[in-house]
Amino acid sequence: MNSYDTKELLLDVLNKVYPDSETLSTLGNLISVDQTALLKLIRELIKRGMPLVYSEQEVRLLVPVMSKTAIQQNLAAKSIGENILLFQSVPSTNDYLKKHLLQFTNGTLILAHTQSLGKGRLGREWSSPAGKTISMSLLLKPNQSDLNYSILTQLAAAALVKALDIYTYAEIKWPNDVLIDKKKVAGILTEAEFSGNRLEGIIIGVGINTNIDPSDIAPELKEKATSLKTVTGPVDPNLIISRFLNYFEDFYEEWLMNHKNHHFLDICRSQSALIGENYWIEENKGSAQTRRKAKIETINDSGSLVVTYLDTLETTTLISTHYSIRSDTGYI
Ligand code: BTN
Repeated sequence: MNSYDTKELLLDVLNKVYPDSETLSTLGNLISVDQTALLKLIRELIKRGMPLVYSEQEVRLLVPVMSKTAIQQNLAAKSIGENILLFQSVPSTNDYLKKHLLQFTNGTLILAHTQSLGKGRLGREWSSPAGKTISMSLLLKPNQSDLNYSILTQLAAAALVKALDIYTYAEIKWPNDVLIDKKKVAGILTEAEFSGNRLEGIIIGVGINTNIDPSDIAPELKEKATSLKTVTGPVDPNLIISRFLNYFEDFYEEWLMNHKNHHFLDICRSQSALIGENYWIEENKGSAQTRRKAKIETINDSGSLVVTYLDTLETTTLISTHYSIRSDTGYI
């Protein structure tokens, strides 16, 4: 077994006993390494930021971490998440899938304990502290090419708030943010790859602040961002991932069969953080940005936001790729 697999096995064993510790001698026996090699592995994991503590006798996780076997235990979905790859670190799980698109089948899920170049919408950076966040990218290879694939961001957002509801109530800030108590806890980045006109694959990237502490959040983001741990105490990332995949498959199959009246859009509307309120609509045109205040009316059946501008009383629909929604004070 290589060092990567041994580390994952070690984390699996510690996940199973969490929140308790395991003795170094039992752990060494379970993963078939001697004490010197075991301590080396533990130190390497800690150096990379994994949430572990150890003494001369014992080691334990400070919070549960991602584990393939734990995800598979609660996975009811059949094709979504059928193939799961978990990395210690990649630059970006979305970019990893893009680079290896041809080699993976529909439903492949890429996970990473951390990302060195995680990216958000509109070219923003996305931070993913090791072992305390979920970074995942799901590959979809639908047979049709002429799909309104941007609606899949709404589908993923609905699957995510349903997945989180075992812990807490979350809201969706169209188009791609998930909020708790008006602060961002997760973001979605949907990308599509084409070869000429042919759709090669759609990548649904999801980043979730599961078990980070307030001290892990950059000072300039403290007013805007939070984590599940901050709100509810430590959460199990594996349960969140398997629940997300289960809901995603249900909604996705329904959408592929029938492109109207989606149940997931009802969830986006009923758990919207925006509908019924007035917000600034920022339009991003390259480096230029304009903003106008509007009442947020609803989300239509294509997943677009319907708004009425307060200056002209014109009602219009917004396509997610061009707009950001802001309150008077900043984020929301
Ligand atoms: C946003 O809020 O702007 C979207 C954030 C999306 C972050 C996720 S983390 C997994 C995947 N890999 C990336 O580089 N980005 C997405």
